[in-house]
Amino acid sequence: MGAGVLTAVAPPFARRGGVLHCGVRSLEDLARQYNTPLYVYNGDRILERKRTLEAAFADLHPSSRSLVAYSVKANPNLAVLELLARTGTGADIVSGGELYRALRAGIPADRIVFAGVGKSHDELRYGIEAGVMSFHVESAQELDALGALAAGMGAVAPVAVRVNPDVHSPTHEFTSTGHAAAKFGVSPGEAHEIYRRVAEHPALHAVGVDVHIGSQIRDPAPFLKALDVVLGVEERARRELGVELDYVDLGGGFGISDGAGDAMDVHALGREVTARLRGRGLDLVLEPGRFLVGDAGVLVTCVLYVKKGGQKTFVVTDAGMTELIRPSHYGGVHSVSPVRENGRDPVERVDIVGPVCEQGDFLARDRSLPLPRPGALLCVHQAGAYGFTMASNYNSRPRPAEVLVHGDRVTLARRRERYDDLIRGETDD
Ligand code: LLP
Repeated sequence: MGAGVLTAVAPPFARRGGVLHCGVRSLEDLARQYNTPLYVYNGDRILERKRTLEAAFADLHPSSRSLVAYSVKANPNLAVLELLARTGTGADIVSGGELYRALRAGIPADRIVFAGVGKSHDELRYGIEAGVMSFHVESAQELDALGALAAGMGAVAPVAVRVNPDVHSPTHEFTSTGHAAAKFGVSPGEAHEIYRRVAEHPALHAVGVDVHIGSQIRDPAPFLKALDVVLGVEERARRELGVELDYVDLGGGFGISDGAGDAMDVHALGREVTARLRGRGLDLVLEPGRFLVGDAGVLVTCVLYVKKGGQKTFVVTDAGMTELIRPSHYGGVHSVSPVRENGRDPVERVDIVGPVCEQGDFLARDRSLPLPRPGALLCVHQAGAYGFTMASNYNSRPRPAEVLVHGDRVTLARRRERYDDLIRGETDD
């Protein structure tokens, strides 16, 4: 690639004077001001990731449009959603609560797709009232419920069927969703029958076809297989039922680089997808979660104790599975580094464990790390997605604070919980 083609992009968390910074802000200073454990997000990085994704699929234009519908579940903090809303991002939501957040953040309803295998009737009603772009329907029974509710409300509900393409994606079994034994979506044959019912129903209108095969996938190939399946469903619906769809939704799941491996080549995926969509008159919806926010966030934690066990050295930190459950729940491998590097501490093999009373409570295992002292800060990387949002109050631990750094501005995006937050709803006051 020629000089000047690659624009230099500042890494989201880089060292200056041996200390990790988020943009222009030192993580040490942020930890001093807001205490630990602390989630820190780099807003500039989030927006840059969105531009990268759009650039990868830019060949689609001008014949088709594309929409980035951010998967709210990855990081639903209002400040993050507001940042994305300001740049015209849509949302992929999976609950009434996520719809509430997305609307509160200023994401227009007509850019919101409502996914989920178990939407309650209240949630369907809320989506109809709000006027969402579409419901990603996952069963014939859900379709019936949606049709009846819409008819009762004098509305016409937009429908996209989520297809289960029976594609295996190389990721953790809990995040592989596109194979036939997964609870998600319906078979291509059943999808066709659902489009038939939509076409006959006065309160339903078919607008798209949807697929989502899993998360943290590093290989474009399964996405292309899935796309071929849903394009087959779209063609058949058009040919046999006269159903004209507006868009195909390829879901999310685009893998990022982490402690276990490299990122997916999103440009290679973009080239192949745009080639397949050319001339079809279909818009494209993408539902990235982790791709936009994953490496834009870190968890800063303080070392409490260093403890030599019978067989291992344990670095005990003030964050654990309650703050970041990915290592213990999915075997997630997050890079961990000292916030301040002094070049003197001997490197040792350690387990980094939290304070929770569970043997499965760890942030990293068998990691080489300069042996920290109590009071040192560690940075757990790639924690912007599925980090705080999966945090819990287990062991009656208040959840941490979140800050967003954007340019030279720092926003306390969520204050640290206090003990009285823990008993809210359990007392009369
Ligand atoms: N669309 C749908 C319908 C989804 O279910 C998901 C994620 C996404 C998009 C966004 O996927 P992403 O681009 O973030 O990979 N908690 C797990 C990941 C669960 C993903 C659930 N669905 C983890 O921490 O690895």
